[in-house]
Amino acid sequence: MIKLGVLCSGRGTDLQSIIDAIADKKLDADIAVVITDKPNVMALERAEKAGIKNICVNRKSFDNQSDFESQLLQELKAVGVDLVVLAGFMRILSPTFVHEYKNRIMNIHPSLLPSFPGAHAHRDVLNYGVKVSGCTVHFVDEGTDSGPIIMQAAVAVKDDDTEETLSARVLEQEHIIYPKAIQLYVEGRLKIDGRHVKILGTKNNR
Ligand code: GAR
Repeated sequence: MIKLGVLCSGRGTDLQSIIDAIADKKLDADIAVVITDKPNVMALERAEKAGIKNICVNRKSFDNQSDFESQLLQELKAVGVDLVVLAGFMRILSPTFVHEYKNRIMNIHPSLLPSFPGAHAHRDVLNYGVKVSGCTVHFVDEGTDSGPIIMQAAVAVKDDDTEETLSARVLEQEHIIYPKAIQLYVEGRLKIDGRHVKILGTKNNR
């Protein structure tokens, strides 16, 4: 069984969609640990409620990013994590970390990448005036929101949208596509070929 390590920074609704997909037998994986970079966030409560090991590795307790990431890696390796799943984790991971889990880190971003990377996607979408936004699941590479794209879903932007209303509609799609993308990984059906992720037609169980 593939072991997931889910990293979060806050509310944890993407985490919840993964927990629910596993409970509903739509996702054939185990969450070995949930790690947050902040204390007292809802993601920790959600993990606790689901009986999943949860740890806060508080970024503020570390002098530098490198020590913080060493602790993250130690926690992930201690439970034998196969795939690192970033679910609302609002930090950029260094090339060293990315290298440790090369092609084994997934992220979900609330825009149609490569448009609107960064920490304020919905605000940037609304300011720009695009008519369609959405969400993107991708493998993490050394850049910011730049890795090979696995799956996307589009959402219409309405004239009267606010960051909150747009984010709520995009989140609905996030909660559908993230568990699906992870399940494709579990089935060994994601083949990375340069910038392209090919979805193979048949299961090739890991
Ligand atoms: C989600 O919209 C996710 O796409 C976004 O943070 C939100 C987390 O919500 N992630 C990023 O912006 C990463 N750059 P959640 O805490 O309810 O899962």
